[in-house]
Amino acid sequence: MKLTDSEQAMLNGREGKAKQKAMELLVRYGEALNCERFVDTTNVAGVPGYFAPVLLDYYKATGDDAYDIIYSRFDLDSDEVVEVPRMMVNSCALQGGVDAEGWQTLGKTADALRMSQSSEAASAGRGIKILKTCTPYLAGNVPKHGEHCAWMESSAVVYCNSVLGARTNTEGRESTSSAMLTGKIPDWGFHRDENRFASHHIQVEIDVESMMDWGMLGYFTGATVQERIPVLTGRFSRPDLIRHKHFGAAAASSGGVEMYHLEGITPEADTLDKALGSRKPLEVLTYGKAEQRRTYDELNSKASDPNVDFVMLGCPHAALEQLQEIARLLEGKRISGNCNLWVFTSRAVKSEADALGYTKIIRAAGGALLTDTCSSIAQAIPPGTKVAALDSAKQTHYLPAIMGIQGWFGSTTDCIAAALTGRWNGVRP
Ligand code: F3S
Repeated sequence: MKLTDSEQAMLNGREGKAKQKAMELLVRYGEALNCERFVDTTNVAGVPGYFAPVLLDYYKATGDDAYDIIYSRFDLDSDEVVEVPRMMVNSCALQGGVDAEGWQTLGKTADALRMSQSSEAASAGRGIKILKTCTPYLAGNVPKHGEHCAWMESSAVVYCNSVLGARTNTEGRESTSSAMLTGKIPDWGFHRDENRFASHHIQVEIDVESMMDWGMLGYFTGATVQERIPVLTGRFSRPDLIRHKHFGAAAASSGGVEMYHLEGITPEADTLDKALGSRKPLEVLTYGKAEQRRTYDELNSKASDPNVDFVMLGCPHAALEQLQEIARLLEGKRISGNCNLWVFTSRAVKSEADALGYTKIIRAAGGALLTDTCSSIAQAIPPGTKVAALDSAKQTHYLPAIMGIQGWFGSTTDCIAAALTGRWNGVRP
């Protein structure tokens, strides 16, 4: 790779051991991709110094120095333990596995909570913003159009590229933790203009309006184009943030979509021709009633028992408007004694929900509003759960497979009705 003088200085160790190790890792990463240079990144979202079950023993064994050890070995891939300094660029921490308030509801141990809090404190001390969410764009981190980012979390990556017009590949723990220290990331993939054009054209021939409609369209899109870039045209209403969030998350889980265009809506798709980079699409596909029904049936193929004992909402983490809707549907009611309701959001959005009284309403109905994680990431469901109801195509894709349960997919209203009655009565479109 061709390095600038300041990059070479970091690689030579002139800015300390940690930055040297980070640059070594990034150079290895760039060279593996035949990449010639770095771009400067000003916005990094990762999981710096997080513990996972496999790392827990390190924390237990090493006490106060654990952060440097974990960061050196698992974030910087360095056998030599280095002292981790303050981060160089705007950096934030994504979702983890423990909610500091709801850890008991999630079935986590006090030990796991203590480890998570010590890791957070160590990160915060180095300038990392502890957002603890898969929706950093709802918690104050909104990159600008064209800004080079280094983000993890597939649903956040697809939102960053497609809706915000910022630029990121789906990075990993090591590359984001190294980018936080150096402000550098290899210049490949979605950082480059030529890799941001659509290759597949999807013509939407039915009305797509609700969040559930957008989730199904996203799920179809991902399953169809896999990791390629689609441009969609046709009969959809202009989606709001929540619909984009559910569309992108679904497309990133049934396939590996990291960027999409909606003609006349997303920032790099003023016209179909512009989204395609004036090239012919490799394939033109249609999304009509038959495709929508097939997608709904596919999402519901893992469920047969109408007795629902768990409802999980907030994947990706719920926006304030979603919590408002959930509170409205629950106000003055009580969920079934046979059912649990967990709603996941970010700390930032929960504090707004607390102030607006939504949290109180959800709790009064017998539900829980949780933060920092979700059932799939924390691998946490209420004991004895057999059948879940979900309003997220992404969560429906993962949770039944991860936890070995049945999972119904439907609208938020269908799911709240299931929580209140303990029965699934979702309507096939
Ligand atoms: Fe977020 Fe969990 Fe869904 S981390 S995107 S709520 S799978």
